Amino acid sequence: MDKIKVTMTVNKKTVETEIEPYARLLDVLRDNFGFTGVKEGCGIGECGACTIIMNGKKVNSCMILAAQAQGSEILTIEGVENADGTMHPVQEAFLEKGAVQCGFCTPGMVISSYHLLNKNPEPTDLEIKEAISGNLCRCTGYKQIISAVHMAADNMKK
Ligand code: FES
Ligand code: FES
Repeated sequence: MDKIKVTMTVNKKTVETEIEPYARLLDVLRDNFGFTGVKEGCGIGECGACTIIMNGKKVNSCMILAAQAQGSEILTIEGVENADGTMHPVQEAFLEKGAVQCGFCTPGMVISSYHLLNKNPEPTDLEIKEAISGNLCRCTGYKQIISAVHMAADNMKK
């Protein structure tokens, strides 16, 4: 099958590559563009390790063909930091609250939390649980993650 060319904006930079028509967005982000912060856990849309924001919507990049992302605006964990290169309040809060253990779920968790706080700056526990319900963590037990999201919400208001 002939390769096709795709162009997208990832973390505010326009990038272009040639792909097989059946290539997953997850693989193209990692292998063609080097955004290895996007993780593959299950590969079937269950774990959220591959979560990114595409055109303002949170999606599992393992479930999307890269060809579908033609012309899209994408944010991965690599683009979450502040413009001056310091950590975003969500990243800082995850560290501060011990919400990172093995770290495999963390990029997806941070993206889901970031997406939530941009829409809802003062979420309740329930709203946080709903927002991260597509992200599985086998390590932390979720309590630290929820308290990190509250801490980030507080710090983002300052
Ligand atoms: S790797 Fe995409 S949801 Fe698990
Ligand atoms: S920190 Fe290990 S899976 Fe979440």
